[in-house]
Parts: sequence; C-alpha cells; structure tokens
Amino acid sequence: MSQAEPLRVGVVGLGAMGAEHVLALSEHVPGAQVVAVHDVDAHRAGEVAASVGARVAGSAEGLVADADVDAVVVASPDRTHAPLTLACLATGKPVLCEKPLGVSVAETAQVVAAEEAAGRRLVTVGFMRRFDPGYLELREAVLGGRVGEPVLVHCVHRNASPHPDATTEGVVGNSMVHELDILPWLTGLPVTGIEVRSPRSEGLREPQLAVVELGRVLATVEVSLSVRYGYDVRCEVVGTEGAVSLRPPARLDVARDGRAGVVVAADFRERFAEAYRAELAAWVAAAGRGGATGASAEDGHRATVVAAAGIESLSSGRRVAVPPG
Ligand SMILES: NC(=O)c1ccc[n+]([C@@H]2O[C@H](COP(=O)([O-])OP(=O)(O)OC[C@H]3O[C@@H](n4cnc5c(N)ncnc54)[C@H](O)[C@@H]3O)[C@@H](O)[C@H]2O)c1
Repeated sequence: MSQAEPLRVGVVGLGAMGAEHVLALSEHVPGAQVVAVHDVDAHRAGEVAASVGARVAGSAEGLVADADVDAVVVASPDRTHAPLTLACLATGKPVLCEKPLGVSVAETAQVVAAEEAAGRRLVTVGFMRRFDPGYLELREAVLGGRVGEPVLVHCVHRNASPHPDATTEGVVGNSMVHELDILPWLTGLPVTGIEVRSPRSEGLREPQLAVVELGRVLATVEVSLSVRYGYDVRCEVVGTEGAVSLRPPARLDVARDGRAGVVVAADFRERFAEAYRAELAAWVAAAGRGGATGASAEDGHRATVVAAAGIESLSSGRRVAVPPG
C-alpha cells in the first residue's frame, strides 16, 4: 500500500460501538476508508454499509480473509474477540480489537503467543481512555510528580442502564476492565491484588466496589450499571503532596427550572468521542505502517488476568493475589 492510498478497513460488529467506529473512521479520521462490514444482523449490516458506501461481508472470517481489506476493527460481542484477533494474526493484518481482548486468561494468553509467533505487533486493544485528553493530562501529572508519590486512586465508572447481555462476571471482565487497564497505566505500577464486593448477593450483582492493590498504591473502583442519570466516569489520584482529578468534561452549564448545573453525558459515545477518534487516528497511522499502537496484546492479557482474579474474589468473598506479569 502506498502512503497516498487510504487504509482499507473492515469492521465486524455494528452495534453501538461498531457503528460509532464506522462513523468516526468515515468522518473524522484521515487516511482510512471503511470498505467492508459484517454483523450477524444482516439488516443492520446493510444499513451501516449503505451509510458509508461499504460492501457487506457474508461472514466475519470472510471479511478478515478478504484481500481488499488491509486492517480490521473487531467490535462484536466479547466472546468473538480472541477468535477474530487470532484470525487477523494468521493473515498478518493489523487489528483494533475492542476490549476485552478475550473472555478468559487462556484466550488472551493464546493471542499474546500468536502475536509473538508473528514476530511483530499487530494487535491494538480498544482501551480508548489512553487517548482521552483528560486521562493523558492526569497521567502526565501523576508520573511527572505533580502531587508527589501517588498513594490512593479513586475511580468511579457509572452507566445509566445495563447492556441487555450484562452478567455479574461481565461487570468485572467487561466494564471494570477499563479501570484494571488504566490503573497500571496511570501509576506505572502493576496490580498485585484485588478484592471485589457487591451489596447484591443474587441476580445481576451490581454495583460493585473493588479495592485494587498496586504495590504501595491502593485504589478504589466503583462500577455501577444502572444509575439512571447518565454515564459518569471519574478518577482522582491522591499523592503525598496533593491530589489531582479529572474535571467533568461537560461543555455546558445549564440553568433551568430552578436548578443550575453541568450536563452529564448520556453514554460512552458522548463522553469519550474525542478519545475514540484519537485512538482510531493513531491506529490508522500505525496500521498503515503494518503495526499497532495504544494498549498491546500483553496489556489486554494483563487486564484479563486481573479481571479473572476480581471475579474469583467476588465469588469467594476474599482478596485474591495477582501473580506478577
Ligand atoms: N471501548 C469502549 O469504551 C467500549 C464501549 C462499548 C462497547 N465496547 C465493546 O464493543 C463490543 C460491542 O459492544 P456494543 O455496546 O456495541 O454492543 P451491541 O450489543 O450494541 O452490538 C453488538 C453487535 O454485534 C453483533 N453481533 C453479535 N454477534 C456477532 C458475531 N458473532 N459476529 C458479528 N457481529 C455480531 C450484534 O448483532 C450487534 O449489532 C463489546 O465487546 C464491548 O465490550 C467497548
């Protein structure tokens, strides 16, 4: 592929996340063209394909194998991530795999091994917070020593309502996994232990509260799936010399009906729009050179290792040590 030609991208899974990626690639990311899409819902695939002038692939495997597709975005459900990422590795194609990289430690370890065998980085895991301007500033402040040595981190991750397929294990493995990735990235320290609890003992066990140990740093993580008022992600790092936190990214203050305050994002697409675009732009640039960017397969594997320990803790009621990576 010459530099002047756009990267020909195929996208698998066209739900909330996949459709958002197709739109962002088409309207906000230079150097990319969505040429093929696939979804098990053929009607949905037809609609999204028509909106950007792409063709509909009959299967995910067919899309990955298509010689006219240079690189692949995987945004289908979690259970499809590792198998499709392995298929991309087998054809030597760069892949942006939505989080999590897999649904078990065995799966994510297999991806890491397959990428090692391929001999170069091809996998990017969709931990888009690493591209969010607020998180990037927070990380720079923490690692640059602005608040001294980090001691505590407080994370809040709230969704208005649960995805219809949400499970108790998925609260850790699909939602909290964002924090399990971002905590080591923010502090430069690996997770060494985790305890996860919920006030609910049956049904969908959420909200969940975790204490995550990163050596000398302790972090709290709240994940709630049904707060109703909107999508709300917060993070504060307390250090020996001060504290630093993300400011709510609201652009508007609204005064109405006797109340004044900030507008809360409706969902992840609104809150992290800039992060998704920056992530895709970096990925398109890297994939155009046949490589990867952002969170690696090893990062995705590590987050799943910690999530598995969190799930074990939730069911046993005990702290679980996380082996070093
Ligand atoms: N990075 C983020 O912030 C973020 C946010 C939301 C979702 N996600 C991830 O994106 C993925 C999709 O989530 P969503 O919210 O878009 O879900 P969704 O339910 O809105 O969409 C899933 C889509 O995948 C399709 N699908 C189901 N099985 C498929 C298969 N075998 N092959 C191809 N398509 C298939 C469905 O028909 C649907 O259109 C999940 O893995 C989720 O973890 C990431």
